[in-house]
Amino acid sequence: MIDLHCHVLPGIDDGPETIEGSLALARAASAGGTRTLVATPHVNLRYPNDAATIARLVGELNERLAAERIAIEVRPGAEIALTSAINMAPARLAELGLGGGSWLLIEPPFTPSAGGIDTILLDILRGGYRVVLAHPERCPAFHRDRAVLESIVRAGILTSITAGSLVGRFGGEVRRFALELVRDGLVHNVASDAHDHSDRAPGMAAELRSAGLQPLAGWLTSEVPAAILAGGEIPPAPAGATEEIQPRRPWRRR
Ligand SMILES: [Fe+2]
Repeated sequence: MIDLHCHVLPGIDDGPETIEGSLALARAASAGGTRTLVATPHVNLRYPNDAATIARLVGELNERLAAERIAIEVRPGAEIALTSAINMAPARLAELGLGGGSWLLIEPPFTPSAGGIDTILLDILRGGYRVVLAHPERCPAFHRDRAVLESIVRAGILTSITAGSLVGRFGGEVRRFALELVRDGLVHNVASDAHDHSDRAPGMAAELRSAGLQPLAGWLTSEVPAAILAGGEIPPAPAGATEEIQPRRPWRRR
């Protein structure tokens, strides 16, 4: 599996504080079947990270992973707040793509209104970038106005939901909304959004299994992220894989 959204770099955002913490996170990811972690530290007002710092930390972490014989490759990336992306110089934005490519992982605001989100995202697309939208299922604006999300997906934006959302980590409403979006073909990737090795851990496979999404798991966690990192065509979802999804089925919080 390829984990497209993970806060694994040390001391750079609200992920691990030390490289030992990064190694623990990577060990947990490896044990869960992940082979590639895309390091996506926050780039926002609170954490104004830059590509040079991210590249240096990715290099240092990969050296330690090899020395410790942890079978994971870390690739550079960033989780760019929408509000930071619109104010960023194009040359700087271009350096922050997932795996060094042209896909940007954009974090939408957690505000209750979706007004303007679509316009800004379409502006970014017009600038020649491609966009993966991080965890829309956790954004109140899209709960209130799903049509905005549908319109930006129609415009070519991909969505990446958080694995924990599928099993109620962010509550029942987020779980139900996440499953509805998967059922309706509005989700292209599942990532961990891990911040550490235990509390916000890097699992994906167990969450997909629990949510009954096994038929889609390979497409969501391997095929689509591989195409994103390679800059290639996004493969179509396997036919019929969403027919069994029942967002309103009773469940118990784990
Ligand atoms: Fe994140």
